Amino acid sequence: MRAILATLLAGFFSVIALGMLGAGAFWVKYEKPEPQPIAYPHDLHAGKLNLECTHCHVYVDKSQYATVPAMKICMDCHKDAQIVSPEIDKLKKFWENEEPIPWQRIHSVPNHVYFSHERHVKFFAAKGETYKDGQICAKCHGNMKVVKEVKQTRTLKMGFCVSCHRAEGAPTDCWTCHKS
Ligand code: HEC
Ligand code: HEC
Ligand code: HEC
Ligand code: HEC
Ligand code: HEC
Repeated sequence: MRAILATLLAGFFSVIALGMLGAGAFWVKYEKPEPQPIAYPHDLHAGKLNLECTHCHVYVDKSQYATVPAMKICMDCHKDAQIVSPEIDKLKKFWENEEPIPWQRIHSVPNHVYFSHERHVKFFAAKGETYKDGQICAKCHGNMKVVKEVKQTRTLKMGFCVSCHRAEGAPTDCWTCHKS
């Protein structure tokens, strides 16, 4: 029993230590995101052109990570020389040079926290909510159909996660989110 307790406590304190490091890195990003390499507008693509979120975030209902789209998805439309803008010229340059676009990550949780998109998206979809239009996503990311530039709008801190888990009857024991 003692041995188990000691292991649990050791685990708990390493979580604290990691958490502090994580929180440091996290806050820098939250308050001062680096500018994106291309000013890609969500409002235009997901709003005006009404593209589904899954047109680009193809893994959001299939895996832990939503992921940002491969450049080919952009080029399906942007090979079209009729659509002109200096920002699209930047896109074409990355494409011609076969260089991946170095998108800056906006939302993240520290490494000691486990989060899966698939699990969350499927749970709310089973209750009849929709996600291809961004409805379910809005719980944690705000309404992406109306924002030009991505910004974090929810804290994504422990209190934020746990209060929804309580409201929805999801597990709240520590090991749910702090695995290993
Ligand atoms: C045409 C492609 C495309 C569509 C459609 C699209 N996105 Fe994105 N999304 C991107 C790209 C590219 C990025 C990375 C650049 C950026 O952050 O602006 C991104 C970034 C994001 C991020 C931030 C990722 C991070 O770094 O934290 C969120 C959240 C997001 N999208 C949600 C949505 C939602 C919700 C929808 C549907 C309402 C949607 N997206 C529709 C291309 C798309
Ligand atoms: C389904 C087709 C389609 C896809 C896929 C698509 N775009 Fe677009 N994009 C358009 C159209 C159409 C416009 C011009 C719309 C307008 O001006 O009203 C546009 C405009 C833009 C602009 C110019 C915005 C401005 O005001 O200067 C940028 C930058 C851009 N797209 C980047 C991207 C990137 C990056 C991707 C991939 C993540 C992408 N697009 C995927 C159709 C698409
Ligand atoms: C329950 C909250 C929640 C919901 C719902 C949610 N996300 Fe996220 N999203 C997060 C968190 C937390 C992160 C950071 C995860 C990490 O660091 O691994 C994130 C990160 C992302 C990222 C960037 C990192 C990655 O996973 O590739 C994208 C893109 C994204 N979300 C898109 C979406 C889209 C699109 C939807 C809806 C279909 C959605 N999210 C629904 C909480 C959520
Ligand atoms: C909008 C409500 C909501 C938010 C916000 C939310 N969750 Fe959840 N989460 C749920 C629900 C509901 C389930 C149960 C899903 C199921 O039973 O399939 C769940 C399940 C989980 C699970 C899986 C539990 C298991 O037994 O495997 C993990 C891990 C998790 N959430 C982590 C997080 C983290 C980390 C955050 C914050 C960054 C977060 N969640 C934010 C609603 C939410
Ligand atoms: C629903 C998911 C979830 C559950 C359940 C959860 N946590 Fe967390 N926890 C997080 C997230 C997300 C973070 C990182 C963001 C932050 O620091 O709030 C975190 C961070 C932490 C940190 C680091 C704090 C810091 O300052 O960086 C500690 C310590 C911690 N959790 C302990 C616990 C303990 C103990 C429990 C059980 C009573 C627990 N957590 C349950 C999601 C969860």
